[in-house]
Amino acid sequence: MKGLVLSGGKGTRLYPLTYTKAKQLIPVANKPVLFRVIEAIRDAGITEIGIVVGDTAAEVKEAVGRGGRWGVNITYIHQSAPAGLAHAVKESREFLGDDRFVMFLGDNCIEGGISPLIEQFGRSDWNCQIVLTRVNDASQFGVAELDEDGKILRLVEKPKEPKSDLALVGIYMFDNTIWEAIEHIKPSWRGELEITDAIQYLVDHNCRVFPYIHRGWWIDTGKKMDMLDANRLVLEEIEHKIEGFVDKDSQITGKVTVEKGAEVINSVIRGPAIIGEHTRIVNTYIGPFTAIFHHSEIEDSEIEHSIVLENSSIKSIPFRIEDSLIGRNVKIHRSPIKPKAYKLMLGDNSDVGIL
Ligand code: TTP
Repeated sequence: MKGLVLSGGKGTRLYPLTYTKAKQLIPVANKPVLFRVIEAIRDAGITEIGIVVGDTAAEVKEAVGRGGRWGVNITYIHQSAPAGLAHAVKESREFLGDDRFVMFLGDNCIEGGISPLIEQFGRSDWNCQIVLTRVNDASQFGVAELDEDGKILRLVEKPKEPKSDLALVGIYMFDNTIWEAIEHIKPSWRGELEITDAIQYLVDHNCRVFPYIHRGWWIDTGKKMDMLDANRLVLEEIEHKIEGFVDKDSQITGKVTVEKGAEVINSVIRGPAIIGEHTRIVNTYIGPFTAIFHHSEIEDSEIEHSIVLENSSIKSIPFRIEDSLIGRNVKIHRSPIKPKAYKLMLGDNSDVGIL
């Protein structure tokens, strides 16, 4: 069995961060979502993994490399245009051949425990398996309608009036019947070749397509609040350890990781939280559900429920920063302008002055 990860696309919902950074490389609990996806595929015993790339190919290749660090072989597939998920699969035909494969969206985060399902599909003679989960507002997602026996009736991409609350999680398993399906579908109203249409073709042609209903959490990290939710859930789940330096005047409570080379001086950190490599935390309060990536600096400030990317600095901010996603190389410092609340979504290389 092979693995296919979709890491092209446009990432418009995370602008401005994704003007310059592939959204799949934005870290959740200090590890890029794409790395978490590769690990999930590797854990299912798959070593041949194709990654579909688009405009951000160079950056993805530099971050992931050939896969040696995970013990897998990575092949890059250049998608000619971000023309839909089924289009990405179509352009991966040479890599996939007639093998069975699992496809993951490179920006989705899912609670562990999905690997046995993938292994089981690898051994089965099913044509396709899709992973579904119950959501509150299904109109944002691909939605599956099942009959009373749990068989798939219909799949609809982002329906205005969803007939069920079962959304397609970004994990799909196929055998080679998918090639015929993709040849027969036409671009949708948004001009994309939709994977839901290809799966509908399989259903309509009596292929063995099975739904699996995932009960744990799942997050499509396409938007700011989704990134923060994923960060919160993963911070709760991972194993924490202190490998950096914490001075005796600092107080650390709950699940906290301080990575190698990081320093915590005269500060309070309430977990779950993670401080990245070579990051300095000085006279600062770091509250729950916060991830500060590597080589950043936070001094005389308070921050909670936020993600800060690499090489950023936050200094002497009089109000607590909350619910924020802060890009790379961002500087936040004091200035005479007067906002009283901070709700930030700052792009890479921003420089923000705050009272
Ligand atoms: P989406 O989040 O559906 O699309 P997008 O990346 O264009 O983002 P936005 O809606 O914010 O503009 O894509 C899901 C995943 O699939 C994501 O990791 C990007 C990837 N993808 C491709 O590789 N090729 C494609 O043609 C598309 C549409 C997405």
